[in-house]
Amino acid sequence: MSGPHHTLLLEGAEYRVREVLKEDRYARSTVLEDRRGRRFVLKESVMRLPPGVRVPPLAALLARHEADLYERLAGVPGIPRLAARPRPDAFLREYVEGATVRDTAPLPPGFFASLEEVLRAVHARGVAYVDLAKEENVLVGADGRAWLVDFQISLAREGPLRALVDRFQREDLYHLSKMRLRRAPADGTDEDRRRVARRGPLGRLHRATVKKAYNLLTRHLVTRWSGAGEGRRED
Ligand SMILES: Nc1ncnc2c1ncn2[C@@H]1O[C@H](COP(=O)(O)OP(=O)(O)OP(=O)(O)O)[C@@H](O)[C@H]1O
Ligand SMILES: [Mg+2]
Repeated sequence: MSGPHHTLLLEGAEYRVREVLKEDRYARSTVLEDRRGRRFVLKESVMRLPPGVRVPPLAALLARHEADLYERLAGVPGIPRLAARPRPDAFLREYVEGATVRDTAPLPPGFFASLEEVLRAVHARGVAYVDLAKEENVLVGADGRAWLVDFQISLAREGPLRALVDRFQREDLYHLSKMRLRRAPADGTDEDRRRVARRGPLGRLHRATVKKAYNLLTRHLVTRWSGAGEGRRED
């Protein structure tokens, strides 16, 4: 991918390759810098199934799915801007200065209020985020506000799984509450405690039914073979 000078030509524009953020059998995310010093993250879908067989149509499908979601969420504060779709299997999004929630402790004051705002705005556009159990997918911006990245397994109301959107939006809120109680207990609300407590005895039933489908989707279906989703997920 990178030439001898570690530059990359996309749609006629030259980018300097800065850093590979993450690479697995499923996707590669690379930080690029243009001539004006603006930074972007290029996400290339790879889709390599054992024993190393690439499946380009599937890679293109995944990249299109995610780029379409970025387009649908354009203008929502806390969602990186989609910058370009240079190839069927790749898209470029604005780079966010900051660190992941996983790597930030303590989280800045007001962080969870901003994360909730982002999540509500995503829901208002008819999207369920679905991957909020992974702290690597949530960034803490330089100003302390939340950013959501990684819409690979998100669902849109118009998509083929639209019937599941309401269900997964509720699941998003459950994961938000869980994360807030875990990472900033003093900010936890009664609603957070209610949402999490609801997962008591009833929750067990839920886990045995709906959660099973959720896990199938988020952990196994694509990720089992691909090595993606290796980041720790908090139930
Ligand atoms: N726009 C961005 N700005 C800064 N860092 C980013 C940005 N996008 C992604 N990252 C970092 O790169 C990591 C990998 O990106 P992403 O989550 O999209 O890929 P992935 O986990 O490989 O995706 P998937 O789970 O779909 O395989 C993220 O966890 C995040 O820490
Ligand atoms: Mg991710």
